[in-house]
Amino acid sequence: MAVKILWYLTAPDGTVPWEPDGRWDTGFDHLQQLAATIDKLGYYGALLATGFGGNEVLTVASATLSVTKRMKFLAAIHPGLLSPAKLAQIALTFDNFSGGRLLLNAVNGNDATSHAFGVHYGHDERYDFSREYWQAFKESYLGQEHGYQGKFVQLAPRPQLAAGSRRGVAGGGGLKPVQPNGVELWGAGTSAPGVAHSVELLDVYLSFANTPPKLGEKFRRVAAEAAKLGRTLRFGTRLQIIVRETEQEAWDYAQWLVDNTSVEYAIESIKRQLPPGETLETYQSPDPQVQRNLDVIRSGRLPAAKDFEIYPNIWTGPALHGFNVLGPLAGTTLVGSAENIATRIREFEAEGAEAFILSGWPLIEEAHRVADLLFPLLDLDHGFDVPILNKSRLAARKATAVESTPTQKAAYV
Ligand SMILES: Cc1cc2nc3c(=O)[nH]c(=O)nc-3n(C[C@H](O)[C@H](O)[C@H](O)COP(=O)(O)O)c2cc1C
Repeated sequence: MAVKILWYLTAPDGTVPWEPDGRWDTGFDHLQQLAATIDKLGYYGALLATGFGGNEVLTVASATLSVTKRMKFLAAIHPGLLSPAKLAQIALTFDNFSGGRLLLNAVNGNDATSHAFGVHYGHDERYDFSREYWQAFKESYLGQEHGYQGKFVQLAPRPQLAAGSRRGVAGGGGLKPVQPNGVELWGAGTSAPGVAHSVELLDVYLSFANTPPKLGEKFRRVAAEAAKLGRTLRFGTRLQIIVRETEQEAWDYAQWLVDNTSVEYAIESIKRQLPPGETLETYQSPDPQVQRNLDVIRSGRLPAAKDFEIYPNIWTGPALHGFNVLGPLAGTTLVGSAENIATRIREFEAEGAEAFILSGWPLIEEAHRVADLLFPLLDLDHGFDVPILNKSRLAARKATAVESTPTQKAAYV
């Protein structure tokens, strides 16, 4: 098997972008430079994340498309903010301009974000609505002319069809789908309705990372639900990354990040992760490592970087997507030497993960490090020849592969 490595095309950027002092003031030119870098380095694609505020993802994708040639744009979309027919029109346009390089990340967000955008379904109903939305989108992208009649989504037949004419319309009607099976839907959902929705609709199921065995367990549960419907999904995960030539250098950098992170950031992140009814003062973790870290944070300090290592090379230290002191979530980070991280990626792969959406900050600098140090150690399935920045690393890998037995794993040091 081989893996796909994606990077992250989303502001903000900086050395420690979760802290006001570590965040850069960047704009459109920086995003263009980032997109061009991702493309040039040979990443499979990049995730464009969505939320309330910040740049709008389809605008970022369209605006940076012209500086790229082969990367895919995995744009996160909350269903319902655009009509599915309008989204299909945008997707057709983007695919025709890019040679079919759009992927969509179907995310259902949370109550606060949906309500602020004007979509007022509750959590479970959001998934019922979303099923119809994505079905209507798919049909519309593939050129179905008769509209869609659902409980939540109703699309009338195409106007020219309704008027009895099949001629093109102003604006260049009649765009043909570039991806013959439609735009691939990637997406997430961990709750029961989220999993039910995913197994019915998605091509690629995504989850924030955990330890490889725990992530594999989740993938197997989702795969079993999909099998009940006769469907097979592919799987992907999301991780931050600190890769260096040696373990020591990687952990020194992780420590530097901790040294430049405030206790307040840890406390804010803990509060977001607490189970309902618990407070920072009352919560007791069943995990002794988490409890020790909590006690240190309660005393007003941050533990050492290594104290957040929950599995070889898997770290719950600070990241832009949270400081997951209570357990791995969106901020989970791979930390280590290139050899050991490659071993960990192969371990995730053995647990079913095929796509890895990575980020490290600053985004352009760390994208180079990953391409330079890690790409030569992995079997990549990007649909094109991935450029190797440093040919001597590839030669060293081939030499090691000849010397070692097929089952041998790099040592964890
Ligand atoms: C890889 C990944 C990327 C995500 N990206 C976004 C995003 O850009 N915007 C967003 O609102 N939610 C994002 N989410 C969160 C999902 O929308 C959703 O809230 C989460 O999967 C919880 O699902 P649940 O409702 O089943 O508990 C992402 C989730 C994953 C695993």
